[in-house]
Amino acid sequence: MIGTPSRQADEVELVPTIAELRVRLDAERAAGRSVGFVPTMGYLHDGHASLMRAAAAANDVVVSSIFVNPLQFAADEDLEDYPRDLDRDRALAAASGVHLLFVPDVAEMYPRGPVDTVVAVPPLAERWEGATRPTHFSGVATVVTKLFSIVGACRAYFGEKDFQQLSIIRRMVADLSIPVEVVGCPIIREADGLAMSSRNSYLTTEQRAAAPVLRRALDTAVAAIGAGEADGVAVTRLMADLIDAEPLAELDYAAVVDPDTLEPIEVIEGEVRLLLAAQVGRPRLIDNAGATMGTPMGALDEEDHR
Ligand code: PAJ
Repeated sequence: MIGTPSRQADEVELVPTIAELRVRLDAERAAGRSVGFVPTMGYLHDGHASLMRAAAAANDVVVSSIFVNPLQFAADEDLEDYPRDLDRDRALAAASGVHLLFVPDVAEMYPRGPVDTVVAVPPLAERWEGATRPTHFSGVATVVTKLFSIVGACRAYFGEKDFQQLSIIRRMVADLSIPVEVVGCPIIREADGLAMSSRNSYLTTEQRAAAPVLRRALDTAVAAIGAGEADGVAVTRLMADLIDAEPLAELDYAAVVDPDTLEPIEVIEGEVRLLLAAQVGRPRLIDNAGATMGTPMGALDEEDHR
């Protein structure tokens, strides 16, 4: 039996091997206890902690993974310098209700080097993030499938911060009948509206001050749709113009999409998702928000967890 949520960092058990984690979680399930799972790449912040708290509230045992997955980084991306701090992560995970922290090294996850088997969800993965990062989502889908296979039947918690990733994982789980219930959780933001991200640590002071422009652009678009603006192209232009007006931000894409298919929407009716990506100095920042035709700020209120 694993006890109540731990408070001390050393009360979180580090599990480095697949075999050990399987034995532990199989025993918990055999004893009738439910498993909550939070996959991460570490350098944890309150966004990750919110997923852990949600998992702890709804499950008997909470496992989180920290694995900076080489498969989802292109050759010119930041795999080598991705920020890491296991001691800090361990303390934050403990304080957020995690019992077991799965921290495999690359050789444990990929003993033969690059894997031959790849999971891909092209219809959802090719646009938006996928247009700039063509191999990224197959790397994510492959490692998440592998993690689900290691952890076994569970509820798994993902942030809406990575809305396209969440959509892909939901589709993959449904298509492959993976015994995992995917739970989406709201975006956690800094006080000035910037969505929390491990990569925000790359921002200089000036870039950090400019970065909340993404959230402001989303707010403006949500308000316009709430007030009855139904033209998807006009709303897209509204967001793009606001990002373009910030000299330190370079727009990658702004889009109004169907929340299920992620296809662009020209005539807005009912619910849509607004997606944004912009380069601000070194990091590409992504953000998104839900909006509902004729519902002023409704979607934002729901998501405004700071
Ligand atoms: P990582 O970027 O570490 O994020 C882990 C989880 O935390 C993801 O589900 C992400 O959406 C969520 N998250 C990050 N920032 C958040 C925020 N500000 N508010 C709410 N949730 C937030 O996403 C990955 O790792 C990887 O791709 C992974 C799924 C672990 C596969 O390698």
